[in-house]
Amino acid sequence: MNTADNVVEMRSISKGFNGVPVLKDVDFDVRKGEVHALAGGNGAGKSTLMKILQGVYQADAGEILIGGKPAAINSIHDAKAAGIGMVFQEFSLVPSLTVAKNIFLAAEPLGTAGLIDDRAAVRRAREVFSEMEVDVDPRAEVSRLGTAYWQLTEIAKALAQNAQVLIMDEPTASLARHESEALFELIDRLKQRGISIIYISHRMDEVYRLADRITILRDGRHLLTAPLTDVTPEQIVEGIVGKKIEGQLSYRARDHAVHDGAPLLEVRGLNAGPRVRDVSFALRPGDILGLAGLMGSGRTELARTLFGIDKADSGEVLLRGKKVTLGSPQQAIDAGLALIPEDRRAQGLVLEHSVQDNLLLPLLGRSSGDPSWTAPRAKNCPPP
Ligand SMILES: Nc1ncnc2c1ncn2[C@@H]1O[C@H](COP(=O)(O)OP(=O)(O)OP(=O)(O)O)[C@@H](O)[C@H]1O
Ligand SMILES: [Mg+2]
Repeated sequence: MNTADNVVEMRSISKGFNGVPVLKDVDFDVRKGEVHALAGGNGAGKSTLMKILQGVYQADAGEILIGGKPAAINSIHDAKAAGIGMVFQEFSLVPSLTVAKNIFLAAEPLGTAGLIDDRAAVRRAREVFSEMEVDVDPRAEVSRLGTAYWQLTEIAKALAQNAQVLIMDEPTASLARHESEALFELIDRLKQRGISIIYISHRMDEVYRLADRITILRDGRHLLTAPLTDVTPEQIVEGIVGKKIEGQLSYRARDHAVHDGAPLLEVRGLNAGPRVRDVSFALRPGDILGLAGLMGSGRTELARTLFGIDKADSGEVLLRGKKVTLGSPQQAIDAGLALIPEDRRAQGLVLEHSVQDNLLLPLLGRSSGDPSWTAPRAKNCPPP
Protein backbone atom coordinates (compact mmCIF):
# COMPACT_ATOMS: atom_id res chain seq x y z
CA MET A 1 0.00 0.00 0.00
CA ASN A 2 1.37 3.33 -1.07
CA THR A 3 1.36 6.01 1.61
CA ALA A 4 0.05 8.56 -0.91
CA ASP A 5 -3.20 6.59 -1.15
CA ASN A 6 -3.87 7.59 2.42
CA VAL A 7 -5.86 10.79 2.68
CA VAL A 8 -5.16 10.79 6.38
CA GLU A 9 -2.35 9.20 8.26
CA MET A 10 -1.89 9.57 11.98
CA ARG A 11 1.43 8.21 13.23
CA SER A 12 2.39 7.30 16.78
CA ILE A 13 -0.12 9.66 18.29
CA SER A 14 0.11 10.08 22.07
CA LYS A 15 -2.05 12.28 24.21
CA GLY A 16 -2.61 12.67 27.92
CA PHE A 17 -4.82 14.84 30.07
CA ASN A 18 -3.34 16.15 33.31
CA GLY A 19 -0.59 13.58 33.11
CA VAL A 20 -2.97 10.68 32.51
CA PRO A 21 -2.16 9.02 29.18
CA VAL A 22 -5.27 8.55 27.05
CA LEU A 23 -3.75 7.70 23.67
CA LYS A 24 -0.54 5.70 23.51
CA ASP A 25 1.40 5.54 20.28
CA VAL A 26 -1.68 5.16 18.08
CA ASP A 27 -1.43 4.65 14.31
CA PHE A 28 -4.47 5.27 12.17
CA ASP A 29 -4.91 5.84 8.46
CA VAL A 30 -7.75 6.39 6.05
CA ARG A 31 -7.70 5.72 2.31
CA LYS A 32 -9.46 7.69 -0.35
CA GLY A 33 -13.07 6.63 -0.76
CA GLU A 34 -13.09 4.18 2.10
CA VAL A 35 -15.37 3.88 5.09
CA HIS A 36 -13.11 3.18 8.04
CA ALA A 37 -14.86 2.07 11.21
CA LEU A 38 -13.30 3.16 14.47
CA ALA A 39 -14.29 0.94 17.36
CA GLY A 40 -13.41 0.49 21.01
CA GLY A 41 -15.06 0.41 24.39
CA ASN A 42 -16.14 3.47 26.36
CA GLY A 43 -13.13 5.62 27.07
CA ALA A 44 -10.89 3.76 24.62
CA GLY A 45 -9.87 7.07 23.08
CA LYS A 46 -11.89 7.22 19.83
CA SER A 47 -13.28 10.70 20.33
CA THR A 48 -9.93 12.01 21.56
CA LEU A 49 -8.17 10.67 18.46
CA MET A 50 -10.79 12.30 16.26
CA LYS A 51 -10.58 15.58 18.15
CA ILE A 52 -6.87 15.62 17.43
CA LEU A 53 -7.62 15.14 13.74
CA GLN A 54 -10.13 17.99 13.89
CA GLY A 55 -7.69 20.33 15.59
CA VAL A 56 -9.68 20.52 18.82
CA TYR A 57 -6.81 18.96 20.77
CA GLN A 58 -3.14 18.80 19.90
CA ALA A 59 -1.25 15.55 20.26
CA ASP A 60 1.61 15.42 22.75
CA ALA A 61 3.60 13.34 20.28
CA GLY A 62 3.22 11.90 16.82
CA GLU A 63 2.44 13.34 13.42
CA ILE A 64 -0.42 13.78 11.00
CA LEU A 65 -0.07 13.48 7.24
CA ILE A 66 -2.74 14.67 4.85
CA GLY A 67 -2.46 13.35 1.31
CA GLY A 68 0.97 11.98 2.19
CA LYS A 69 2.35 15.32 3.40
CA PRO A 70 2.97 16.31 7.00
CA ALA A 71 0.29 18.70 8.16
CA ALA A 72 0.17 20.97 11.18
CA ILE A 73 -3.39 20.79 12.49
CA ASN A 74 -3.42 23.24 15.33
CA SER A 75 -6.98 24.48 15.09
CA ILE A 76 -10.39 23.55 13.74
CA HIS A 77 -9.67 26.01 10.97
CA ASP A 78 -6.51 24.09 9.99
CA ALA A 79 -8.50 20.85 9.96
CA LYS A 80 -11.19 22.32 7.70
CA ALA A 81 -8.56 23.70 5.36
CA ALA A 82 -7.05 20.21 5.21
CA GLY A 83 -10.43 18.80 4.15
CA ILE A 84 -11.46 17.23 7.44
CA GLY A 85 -15.18 17.57 8.13
CA MET A 86 -17.10 16.52 11.16
CA VAL A 87 -20.71 15.52 11.46
CA PHE A 88 -21.26 16.45 15.05
CA GLN A 89 -23.15 14.20 17.40
CA GLU A 90 -24.51 17.25 19.10
CA PHE A 91 -25.40 19.13 15.99
CA SER A 92 -23.67 22.43 15.57
CA LEU A 93 -26.50 24.17 13.74
CA VAL A 94 -28.33 27.35 14.64
CA PRO A 95 -31.99 26.27 14.87
CA SER A 96 -33.50 29.67 14.17
CA LEU A 97 -31.71 30.01 10.83
CA THR A 98 -32.53 28.41 7.50
CA VAL A 99 -30.76 25.35 6.19
CA ALA A 100 -28.93 27.45 3.58
CA LYS A 101 -27.73 29.96 6.17
CA ASN A 102 -26.47 27.18 8.39
CA ILE A 103 -24.54 25.60 5.57
CA PHE A 104 -22.85 28.85 4.64
CA LEU A 105 -22.65 30.41 8.07
CA ALA A 106 -18.90 29.97 8.19
CA ALA A 107 -18.27 30.75 4.54
CA GLU A 108 -21.18 32.74 3.21
CA PRO A 109 -21.24 33.76 -0.42
CA LEU A 110 -20.98 37.51 -0.40
CA GLY A 111 -23.15 39.76 -2.55
CA THR A 112 -21.95 42.89 -4.30
CA ALA A 113 -22.04 45.10 -1.24
CA GLY A 114 -20.33 42.42 0.81
CA LEU A 115 -23.69 41.45 2.28
CA ILE A 116 -24.74 37.90 2.73
CA ASP A 117 -26.35 36.84 -0.51
CA ASP A 118 -29.34 34.73 0.49
CA ARG A 119 -30.27 33.70 -3.00
CA ALA A 120 -26.75 32.59 -3.79
CA ALA A 121 -26.68 30.61 -0.54
CA VAL A 122 -29.97 28.90 -1.39
CA ARG A 123 -28.75 28.13 -4.91
CA ARG A 124 -25.44 26.70 -3.69
CA ALA A 125 -27.23 24.68 -0.99
CA ARG A 126 -29.52 23.22 -3.67
CA GLU A 127 -26.46 22.18 -5.65
CA VAL A 128 -24.91 20.46 -2.66
CA PHE A 129 -28.13 18.60 -1.83
CA SER A 130 -28.59 17.58 -5.43
CA GLU A 131 -25.03 16.19 -5.50
CA MET A 132 -25.94 14.29 -2.33
CA GLU A 133 -29.13 13.15 -4.09
CA VAL A 134 -31.29 14.09 -1.13
CA ASP A 135 -34.34 16.29 -0.98
CA VAL A 136 -34.01 19.11 1.54
CA ASP A 137 -35.48 22.60 1.17
CA PRO A 138 -32.63 25.05 1.78
CA ARG A 139 -35.14 27.76 2.76
CA ALA A 140 -36.63 25.72 5.62
CA GLU A 141 -35.86 26.86 9.13
CA VAL A 142 -33.73 24.20 10.81
CA SER A 143 -35.80 24.14 14.00
CA ARG A 144 -38.78 22.90 12.00
CA LEU A 145 -36.94 19.89 10.64
CA GLY A 146 -36.44 16.44 12.15
CA THR A 147 -33.12 15.01 13.31
CA ALA A 148 -32.43 13.28 10.01
CA TYR A 149 -32.57 16.62 8.18
CA TRP A 150 -30.30 18.26 10.73
CA GLN A 151 -27.80 15.56 9.99
CA LEU A 152 -28.14 16.01 6.23
CA THR A 153 -27.59 19.73 6.75
CA GLU A 154 -24.46 18.99 8.80
CA ILE A 155 -23.17 16.74 6.04
CA ALA A 156 -23.99 19.35 3.38
CA LYS A 157 -22.18 21.97 5.46
CA ALA A 158 -19.04 19.84 5.59
CA LEU A 159 -19.23 19.08 1.87
CA ALA A 160 -19.76 22.75 1.04
CA GLN A 161 -16.46 23.38 2.81
CA ASN A 162 -14.84 20.81 0.54
CA ALA A 163 -14.40 18.10 3.12
CA GLN A 164 -12.61 15.06 1.77
CA VAL A 165 -12.89 13.13 5.01
CA LEU A 166 -16.05 13.05 7.07
CA ILE A 167 -15.96 11.97 10.68
CA MET A 168 -19.26 10.53 11.87
CA ASP A 169 -19.58 9.75 15.57
CA GLU A 170 -22.51 7.39 16.24
CA PRO A 171 -24.51 8.99 13.43
CA THR A 172 -27.51 6.69 13.71
CA ALA A 173 -27.93 7.16 17.47
CA SER A 174 -31.00 9.34 17.07
CA LEU A 175 -32.31 8.17 13.71
CA ALA A 176 -35.28 5.94 12.96
CA ARG A 177 -34.56 2.80 11.00
CA HIS A 178 -35.60 4.12 7.58
CA GLU A 179 -33.59 7.28 8.19
CA SER A 180 -30.54 5.18 9.02
CA GLU A 181 -31.00 3.25 5.79
CA ALA A 182 -31.17 6.54 3.86
CA LEU A 183 -27.95 7.65 5.58
CA PHE A 184 -26.22 4.39 4.61
CA GLU A 185 -27.20 4.93 0.98
CA LEU A 186 -25.86 8.46 1.13
CA ILE A 187 -22.60 7.15 2.59
CA ASP A 188 -22.36 4.70 -0.34
CA ARG A 189 -22.78 7.58 -2.79
CA LEU A 190 -20.21 9.76 -1.00
CA LYS A 191 -17.76 6.88 -1.13
CA GLN A 192 -18.23 6.58 -4.87
CA ARG A 193 -17.32 10.23 -5.16
CA GLY A 194 -14.04 9.51 -3.40
CA ILE A 195 -15.02 10.95 -0.03
CA SER A 196 -13.61 9.02 2.92
CA ILE A 197 -15.61 8.40 6.05
CA ILE A 198 -14.46 7.62 9.56
CA TYR A 199 -17.39 5.88 11.14
CA ILE A 200 -17.59 5.48 14.91
CA SER A 201 -20.27 3.03 15.95
CA HIS A 202 -20.96 0.36 18.50
CA ARG A 203 -23.43 -1.30 16.14
CA MET A 204 -21.92 -4.31 14.49
CA ASP A 205 -24.52 -4.60 11.72
CA GLU A 206 -23.78 -1.04 10.60
CA VAL A 207 -20.06 -1.62 10.66
CA TYR A 208 -20.44 -4.69 8.43
CA ARG A 209 -22.93 -2.94 6.18
CA LEU A 210 -20.72 0.09 5.56
CA ALA A 211 -17.10 -0.24 6.44
CA ASP A 212 -14.19 -1.42 4.34
CA ARG A 213 -11.78 -1.62 7.27
CA ILE A 214 -11.98 -1.40 11.01
CA THR A 215 -9.53 -0.10 13.58
CA ILE A 216 -10.01 -1.10 17.19
CA LEU A 217 -8.63 0.90 20.08
CA ARG A 218 -8.38 -0.58 23.53
CA ASP A 219 -7.36 1.48 26.55
CA GLY A 220 -5.80 4.12 24.33
CA ARG A 221 -3.75 1.68 22.29
CA HIS A 222 -4.10 0.56 18.71
CA LEU A 223 -5.19 -3.06 18.81
CA LEU A 224 -5.79 -3.91 15.18
CA THR A 225 -6.66 -2.60 11.75
CA ALA A 226 -8.16 -5.09 9.31
CA PRO A 227 -10.53 -5.37 6.36
CA LEU A 228 -14.00 -6.38 7.52
CA THR A 229 -13.72 -9.43 5.27
CA ASP A 230 -10.93 -10.70 7.52
CA VAL A 231 -12.55 -10.38 10.93
CA THR A 232 -15.61 -11.97 12.48
CA PRO A 233 -18.04 -10.07 14.70
CA GLU A 234 -16.88 -12.27 17.59
CA GLN A 235 -13.28 -11.18 17.05
CA ILE A 236 -14.33 -7.54 17.00
CA VAL A 237 -16.34 -7.84 20.20
CA GLU A 238 -13.48 -9.70 21.80
CA GLY A 239 -11.10 -6.98 20.65
CA ILE A 240 -13.28 -4.26 22.09
CA VAL A 241 -14.02 -5.81 25.46
CA GLY A 242 -10.74 -7.65 25.83
CA LYS A 243 -12.18 -11.06 26.54
CA LYS A 244 -14.10 -13.80 24.85
CA ILE A 245 -17.85 -13.51 25.08
CA GLU A 246 -19.25 -16.97 25.50
CA GLY A 247 -22.50 -18.16 24.02
CA GLN A 248 -23.39 -14.80 22.52
CA LEU A 249 -26.48 -16.03 20.80
CA SER A 250 -27.96 -18.25 23.44
CA TYR A 251 -30.23 -16.79 26.01
CA ARG A 252 -31.09 -18.45 29.25
CA ALA A 253 -34.32 -17.75 30.99
CA ARG A 254 -33.98 -17.09 34.68
CA ASP A 255 -35.09 -20.29 36.19
CA HIS A 256 -36.52 -18.93 39.39
CA ALA A 257 -38.56 -15.98 40.48
CA VAL A 258 -36.02 -14.03 42.49
CA HIS A 259 -38.31 -11.39 43.77
CA ASP A 260 -41.56 -12.02 45.48
CA GLY A 261 -43.67 -9.96 47.77
CA ALA A 262 -46.08 -7.18 47.04
CA PRO A 263 -45.68 -5.30 43.76
CA LEU A 264 -43.96 -1.94 43.92
CA LEU A 265 -45.55 -0.70 40.73
CA GLU A 266 -48.70 -2.09 39.26
CA VAL A 267 -50.30 -1.05 36.00
CA ARG A 268 -53.86 -2.17 35.33
CA GLY A 269 -55.63 -1.86 31.99
CA LEU A 270 -53.78 1.28 30.97
CA ASN A 271 -54.95 3.01 27.78
CA ALA A 272 -53.34 6.08 26.27
CA GLY A 273 -53.74 7.27 22.72
CA PRO A 274 -53.82 4.87 19.80
CA ARG A 275 -50.80 2.80 20.82
CA VAL A 276 -51.11 1.97 24.49
CA ARG A 277 -54.03 -0.43 24.71
CA ASP A 278 -55.00 -2.30 27.83
CA VAL A 279 -51.52 -2.68 29.31
CA SER A 280 -51.20 -4.47 32.63
CA PHE A 281 -48.13 -5.62 34.54
CA ALA A 282 -46.66 -5.73 38.01
CA LEU A 283 -43.14 -4.85 39.05
CA ARG A 284 -41.78 -6.16 42.33
CA PRO A 285 -38.96 -4.54 44.30
CA GLY A 286 -35.65 -5.37 42.63
CA ASP A 287 -37.27 -6.49 39.38
CA ILE A 288 -35.96 -5.68 35.95
CA LEU A 289 -38.87 -5.87 33.57
CA GLY A 290 -38.06 -6.23 29.87
CA LEU A 291 -40.46 -4.44 27.57
CA ALA A 292 -40.23 -5.78 24.03
CA GLY A 293 -42.05 -4.89 20.85
CA LEU A 294 -41.56 -3.81 17.27
CA MET A 295 -41.15 -0.21 16.17
CA GLY A 296 -44.42 1.58 16.69
CA SER A 297 -45.77 -0.98 19.12
CA GLY A 298 -46.09 1.60 21.86
CA ARG A 299 -43.10 0.96 24.14
CA THR A 300 -42.01 4.59 24.21
CA GLU A 301 -45.60 5.78 24.57
CA LEU A 302 -46.11 3.50 27.56
CA ALA A 303 -43.01 4.93 29.22
CA ARG A 304 -44.18 8.46 28.42
CA THR A 305 -47.60 7.77 29.89
CA LEU A 306 -46.15 6.32 33.09
CA PHE A 307 -43.95 9.37 33.40
CA GLY A 308 -46.88 11.74 32.99
CA ILE A 309 -45.81 13.19 29.64
CA ASP A 310 -48.73 11.68 27.75
CA LYS A 311 -52.15 11.56 29.30
CA ALA A 312 -53.70 8.21 30.17
CA ASP A 313 -57.24 7.76 28.86
CA SER A 314 -58.14 5.07 31.36
CA GLY A 315 -56.63 2.45 33.61
CA GLU A 316 -54.87 2.51 36.96
CA VAL A 317 -51.34 2.88 38.22
CA LEU A 318 -50.59 1.75 41.76
CA LEU A 319 -47.46 2.36 43.80
CA ARG A 320 -47.10 0.02 46.76
CA GLY A 321 -50.76 -0.81 46.33
CA LYS A 322 -51.89 2.80 46.45
CA LYS A 323 -53.49 4.42 43.43
CA VAL A 324 -51.53 7.35 42.07
CA THR A 325 -52.20 9.97 39.42
CA LEU A 326 -49.27 10.58 37.12
CA GLY A 327 -50.57 13.62 35.31
CA SER A 328 -47.24 15.37 34.82
CA PRO A 329 -43.52 14.52 34.94
CA GLN A 330 -43.34 16.44 38.22
CA GLN A 331 -45.96 14.16 39.76
CA ALA A 332 -44.11 11.14 38.44
CA ILE A 333 -40.81 12.35 39.89
CA ASP A 334 -42.53 13.03 43.22
CA ALA A 335 -43.88 9.51 43.15
CA GLY A 336 -40.35 8.16 42.78
CA LEU A 337 -40.23 7.46 39.06
CA ALA A 338 -37.37 8.45 36.81
CA LEU A 339 -37.28 8.34 33.03
CA ILE A 340 -34.13 7.91 31.00
CA PRO A 341 -35.51 8.76 27.58
CA GLU A 342 -34.75 7.20 24.23
CA ASP A 343 -32.89 10.17 22.81
CA ARG A 344 -30.94 11.42 25.79
CA ARG A 345 -29.16 14.13 23.84
CA ALA A 346 -32.39 15.77 22.77
CA GLN A 347 -34.81 14.78 25.51
CA GLY A 348 -32.84 14.16 28.65
CA LEU A 349 -30.01 16.64 28.89
CA VAL A 350 -29.29 20.28 28.31
CA LEU A 351 -25.98 19.78 26.58
CA GLU A 352 -24.64 23.28 26.93
CA HIS A 353 -25.01 23.10 30.71
CA SER A 354 -22.70 21.41 33.18
CA VAL A 355 -23.29 17.97 34.67
CA GLN A 356 -24.15 19.66 37.97
CA ASP A 357 -26.76 21.91 36.38
CA ASN A 358 -28.28 18.95 34.61
CA LEU A 359 -28.50 17.00 37.85
CA LEU A 360 -30.26 19.88 39.54
CA LEU A 361 -32.71 20.45 36.69
CA PRO A 362 -35.52 18.20 38.01
CA LEU A 363 -35.34 20.04 41.34
CA LEU A 364 -35.73 23.50 39.90
CA GLY A 365 -38.53 25.50 41.43
CA ARG A 366 -38.53 23.32 44.48
CA SER A 367 -35.32 24.18 46.25
CA SER A 368 -36.21 27.83 46.41
CA GLY A 369 -38.71 29.28 48.84
CA ASP A 370 -39.53 26.01 50.49
CA PRO A 371 -37.61 25.74 53.77
CA SER A 372 -39.13 22.37 54.58
CA TRP A 373 -37.81 20.85 51.40
CA THR A 374 -34.64 18.93 52.06
CA ALA A 375 -33.50 16.30 49.61
CA PRO A 376 -34.51 14.91 46.23
CA ARG A 377 -36.36 12.08 47.86
CA ALA A 378 -39.49 10.71 46.28
CA LYS A 379 -42.18 12.69 48.02
CA ASN A 380 -45.34 10.81 47.40
CA CYS A 381 -44.04 7.27 47.19
CA PRO A 382 -45.61 5.58 50.17
CA PRO A 383 -42.97 4.09 52.50
CA PRO A 384 -42.54 0.32 52.46
N1 LIG B 1 -10.83 16.79 28.09
C1 LIG B 1 -10.51 15.73 28.81
N2 LIG B 1 -9.92 15.86 30.01
C2 LIG B 1 -9.57 14.77 30.74
N3 LIG B 1 -9.80 13.50 30.35
C3 LIG B 1 -10.38 13.30 29.16
C4 LIG B 1 -10.77 14.40 28.32
N4 LIG B 1 -11.34 13.89 27.20
C5 LIG B 1 -11.31 12.56 27.33
N5 LIG B 1 -10.73 12.19 28.50
C6 LIG B 1 -10.49 10.82 28.96
O1 LIG B 1 -9.86 10.14 27.92
C7 LIG B 1 -10.29 8.80 27.82
C8 LIG B 1 -10.75 8.53 26.41
O2 LIG B 1 -11.95 9.23 26.18
P1 LIG B 1 -12.67 9.30 24.79
O3 LIG B 1 -13.79 10.23 24.93
O4 LIG B 1 -11.67 9.59 23.72
O5 LIG B 1 -13.19 7.81 24.63
P2 LIG B 1 -14.17 7.18 23.55
O6 LIG B 1 -13.46 6.00 22.97
O7 LIG B 1 -14.62 8.23 22.61
O8 LIG B 1 -15.39 6.66 24.45
P3 LIG B 1 -16.98 6.58 24.17
O9 LIG B 1 -17.21 5.29 23.46
O10 LIG B 1 -17.56 6.57 25.54
O11 LIG B 1 -17.38 7.77 23.37
C9 LIG B 1 -11.36 8.62 28.88
O12 LIG B 1 -10.79 8.02 30.00
C10 LIG B 1 -11.78 10.04 29.18
O13 LIG B 1 -12.25 10.16 30.49
MG1 LIG C 1 -16.56 9.09 22.18
